[in-house]
Amino acid sequence: MVYRFMTVRLLTFLISYFPPLRRILWRWWYNRLARQVKSPEWTFMNYGLVWPQDEPELSLSPRDETDRLYVQLYHRVAAPGDLAGKNVLEVGAGRGGGAAYVARCFAPAQMTAVDISAHAVALCAQRHTEPNLRFLPGDAESLPFADNSFDAVLNVESSHCYASMPKFLREVTRVLRPGGIFLFADLREANAMPALEALFAAQPLLKVIEQEDITANISAALKADDERKRTQILELCPPSLHALFEQFAGLSGSIVQRNFENRSLLYRRVVLQRIEPKMRRQGSAGLIETMNWSRGGSDKW
Ligand SMILES: C[S@@+](CC[C@H](N)C(=O)[O-])C[C@H]1O[C@@H](n2cnc3c(N)ncnc32)[C@H](O)[C@@H]1O
Repeated sequence: MVYRFMTVRLLTFLISYFPPLRRILWRWWYNRLARQVKSPEWTFMNYGLVWPQDEPELSLSPRDETDRLYVQLYHRVAAPGDLAGKNVLEVGAGRGGGAAYVARCFAPAQMTAVDISAHAVALCAQRHTEPNLRFLPGDAESLPFADNSFDAVLNVESSHCYASMPKFLREVTRVLRPGGIFLFADLREANAMPALEALFAAQPLLKVIEQEDITANISAALKADDERKRTQILELCPPSLHALFEQFAGLSGSIVQRNFENRSLLYRRVVLQRIEPKMRRQGSAGLIETMNWSRGGSDKW
């Protein structure tokens, strides 16, 4: 126990002083998961979301019902994008359940889903065969697409793994066409959330059009699915991964579950729109801002 605690502290320390390590470690972890746990029924890797009580329940097809909480997170994030007939990119698709749901339910013309884990991408390509969906390997900080290629970019519970959030936002801005929508959701420690908000607000070519704190809905989802996840971990994961998985999955008593509960960990949904440079350009000052942005951006987010 003490050994595990010290390891976590050491990794936290190293990651905060050397952000590229964060990307390396997460890629290693997700590749390991895809290699070791191939179960076809496990297609989502987010914490799920309990739908707000004051809104009508989401109607789902029987095939999506078993994953309702995880589907609901995707639905909440993707719905404002009005994705029908559009060209959509998901960054950090994991095991592809979310991309497949969006491809079926929102009927984009083409859904492209990338992930840094080549093993996860291979699993996805075998498992999800929707005709408007394709999976490719790709790094959020260096997206393998031309400028202005997409009408919308979707990013669910993945950005906390990246070495540089400013780099990712530059890539999102680059691949989105003007008027395109960035649909974002992720967690941050409470003391890091203001920096993330400031980073979004400072993007010269992205405008925040909607924000929602969904921490309570995520925390409720952890509680609602605790027993099922505990059983699944015992059934599906190799014994060597059980203890790590209980933390990773946010089971009751885990650090993640406790921190969502006491709000030292927060979960935010944000919708941003890619705007034309001229919309923010007010005389020469605005132009200078745009040029500076293309070079800078702190990695402390
Ligand atoms: C917590 S999982 C979420 C997966 C999926 N969005 C879901 O909700 O089921 C995070 C995913 O982000 C991917 N990821 C981490 N760093 C990445 C990067 N730099 N570029 C692309 N994907 C990345 C991981 O491989 C993993 O599949």
